[in-house]
Amino acid sequence: MPQIAPSILAADFANLQKEVEMLNASAADYIHVDVMDGIFVPNISFGLPVTEAIFRHATKPLDVHLMIVNPELYLEDFVKAGAAVLTVHVEACTHLHRTLQEIKRLGVKAGIAINPHSPIELLSEVLEEIDLVCLMSVNPGFGGQKFIEHTYSKVVNLKKLILKTGSRALIEVDGGVSNQNARRLVEAGADILVAGSFVFGNSDPHATIASLKSIAV
Ligand code: DX5
Ligand code: ZN
Repeated sequence: MPQIAPSILAADFANLQKEVEMLNASAADYIHVDVMDGIFVPNISFGLPVTEAIFRHATKPLDVHLMIVNPELYLEDFVKAGAAVLTVHVEACTHLHRTLQEIKRLGVKAGIAINPHSPIELLSEVLEEIDLVCLMSVNPGFGGQKFIEHTYSKVVNLKKLILKTGSRALIEVDGGVSNQNARRLVEAGADILVAGSFVFGNSDPHATIASLKSIAV
C-alpha cells in the first residue's frame, strides 16, 4: 500500500483553506507543497507565506519540494513555515551533504529530488543520510505533464541501490501519476505517489486518493 501525497499545486488557490480541509478529510498521507522560483524551473508557484498558510490549516504533514536554486539559504524558513519533509534537488546543491546535514539538524525528514536526466548513481554516497528520494517522472516546473515511461526502470534500479547501500530511504514518484501508471510504479518499488492534476482534476478527489492508496501488490 503506497503513501499518497496530493500536490497542492493543482488546487484552487483562491480557496486554499477549503482545499487543505478537503485533503485533511481524505486518505492522503502528506500534502505535497511545490515551491518554484522561476530560476531552477521555468515557473513561479509560491513561497514561504503560502506554505505557512497551508500549514495553519493542515492536519497532514507537509512534504515540501523545493525547486529553487540555493535551497540551503531557506531551509530554516521552510521548517518554521511547517515542513515535515524538506526535499532539495541534487541538481541545485553544490554541497549536498552539508545541506542534508542542515535539514536533519533542523529536525525534519530530508529528501533529495532528482530530475529525469540525472542518473541515480549521483545519490549513492548520500543515500544512507536521507529519508526519501523524490524521483521526478516529469521535468519539474508544471503540473499536468505527461508521465515519462523510463521512470519504471529508474524506480527498480533505485530500489536495488537503496538495498545495496543499507539505506532506509523511501522512493517517491512525482509527476504525471494517475491510475494509468500507479500500480506499475508500486510494483516497481515506489513507496509514495505524488498526484496533482489526477486528484484535483477529478470530481471526487477523496475517491481518487483512496483508489491510489488501496493499490496492493
Ligand atoms: C512538478 C511538481 C509536481 C506536480 C505534480 O514540477 O513537482 O509535484 O505538481 O503534478 P501532476 O500530478 O499534475 O503531474
Ligand atoms: Zn513536486
